Amino acid sequence: MAGAPRKNNICLWPAARAGTPDREYGKHDILEIGVYSLTGSAPRSRPDASPLERREGFVRGLLERWKDEPAPLLPLLHALHERDGYLSEEALRAVAKGLRIPIADLFGTVTFYHHFSREADGLDRPRVCDGPVCSMRGAEVLMASLRAAGHDPQAMPCPGRCDQPVPVIHRGTVLTGRTASTLVRGPSPLPPAAPDGVEECVFAGIRRPGRATLAGYRDHGGYDALVRAVTGMTPGDVIDVIDASGLAGRGG
Ligand code: FES
Repeated sequence: MAGAPRKNNICLWPAARAGTPDREYGKHDILEIGVYSLTGSAPRSRPDASPLERREGFVRGLLERWKDEPAPLLPLLHALHERDGYLSEEALRAVAKGLRIPIADLFGTVTFYHHFSREADGLDRPRVCDGPVCSMRGAEVLMASLRAAGHDPQAMPCPGRCDQPVPVIHRGTVLTGRTASTLVRGPSPLPPAAPDGVEECVFAGIRRPGRATLAGYRDHGGYDALVRAVTGMTPGDVIDVIDASGLAGRGG
């Protein structure tokens, strides 16, 4: 449908966890299932509107479109981030007011997601993880090294690449390393195989060739449960299965 929001951030977890050098996938991605981007469908301002009016109109239009949806916050934040390259205080205040969320709560959400930059030009500046693991593994040294190389790095929260300290996101590319000159781009490494006799759960089958593609994921049972739920179960059946599984919270 013309002008409709397009799905842009569906994570094929865990199929997409490995072998994808151009995107980073981490612990937060599973929380983004169903998040929609509004790229290409932003509300338009009148031609003679001032820059401030345009910004306010854009936020108002987004709020109007999403305020009655069950979970409007992340789509709104993604749309604003894509528009500006960062989340400004002005934008956050407008979202807080429009959705009636305390600004402190909103700040907590924004700083939890490593995707979001809070500083202007955030997408053009290298963003370095300063989470606990990376802090112990040389995040400060890497920041200093980037500064010495002429960059203006900023810190970001843990993106879930703790097995590869220290991750840096720069213009959408994930790099890892300890100094500016040794940063390399590469896919998430495959996890080591479980010892004999230990059953794998989340990573079961992740080492099979082609598993990082949608076709490979489906070849090995990906989405089978979804098809079963949609075609052969009632909503009550689905709830019973989830209750019986003992899952707690979005990540289980
Ligand atoms: S602490 Fe740096 S990636 Fe997790």
